[in-house]
Amino acid sequence: MFLVTGATGGIGRRVVRLLRQQDKSVRAFVRLTSRYSELEHRGASIFVGDLRREKDIQKACQGVEYIISAHGSDSDALSLDYRANIELIDQAKANGVQHFVFISVLGADRGYEDAPVFKAKRAVERYLEASDLNYTILRPAGLASNLLPLAERFRETGLYLLIGDPKNRTSIVSTDDLARMVVDSITLEGARNQILPVGGPEILLREDIPRIFSRVFSKEAIVINSPLFVVDGLRSAFGLFNPPAQKALGTYRTLLSNEFFCTKEETANLERIFNLQLESLESFLRRYLAV
Ligand SMILES: NC(=O)c1ccc[n+]([C@@H]2O[C@H](COP(=O)([O-])OP(=O)(O)OC[C@H]3O[C@@H](n4cnc5c(N)ncnc54)[C@H](OP(=O)(O)O)[C@@H]3O)[C@@H](O)[C@H]2O)c1
Repeated sequence: MFLVTGATGGIGRRVVRLLRQQDKSVRAFVRLTSRYSELEHRGASIFVGDLRREKDIQKACQGVEYIISAHGSDSDALSLDYRANIELIDQAKANGVQHFVFISVLGADRGYEDAPVFKAKRAVERYLEASDLNYTILRPAGLASNLLPLAERFRETGLYLLIGDPKNRTSIVSTDDLARMVVDSITLEGARNQILPVGGPEILLREDIPRIFSRVFSKEAIVINSPLFVVDGLRSAFGLFNPPAQKALGTYRTLLSNEFFCTKEETANLERIFNLQLESLESFLRRYLAV
């Protein structure tokens, strides 16, 4: 039995699909408010709970052999990115779990002080490494599926909002490739007890993204390039009445103001371990948007 957290998210949903295609038993951890009917339809068993509650995690982990932690957090990195994962790892040990896959983030080890999600991910990575469990830690750059809503908006308006330096490099990974790596990590020797940076096949500049949209939709791009101090202004305003949102914006600012890309060697290593050819962002978008 596989337990998948974040089973309704961009990565988790695809992981559940792949596991069910292979006829594996899956327990999908969802919230009552989650949109989970597709998972049920595919034959996953649905566990309704909240990852903020230890008791729910304990119950969900009973009798499982594999755990895939793919949940995210909106503005509560401490409860969700940190505490929930520590509890999942403790429960994995208590239940004799055979392999634990953790979705971290590229740059988790760079010591960003102002980014709670990055700090939580690094602390969890360390805890997992020291746990004696078999594990795979995947550190993705940006996910291609995140760009789908932006692409849809571009299709209608031709507009693209680019905050920060357009020359910053990124290697967006196909969310389908990532899901496949998550699932294959469990069986492939080369992925066992590894921390792997995960990116797509090309190093893009952020300004390349509207260019790709433009090609995909044969539509000229109107790029609005906003400076980073707009985010700083928002953060100061939030500090007055919503400190959690202010902290979450710290992670967002870190994502916007730094480069997140994999080297050619790192992507070649991924292709070798997982025996796949990484998909480009343009190909991913064309598949999903049918153009
Ligand atoms: N997106 C990226 O570009 C990116 C890049 C690098 C790393 N990552 C990491 O990859 C992981 C997955 O990202 P994603 O983009 O696939 O996530 P996502 O689409 O934002 O989905 C988040 C998932 O977490 C679930 N969740 C949130 N709070 C929960 C709670 N209290 N209890 C139970 N479930 C809860 C959500 O359930 P609901 O459906 O109920 O909301 C959803 O299934 C995250 O750990 C993220 O940090 C993402």
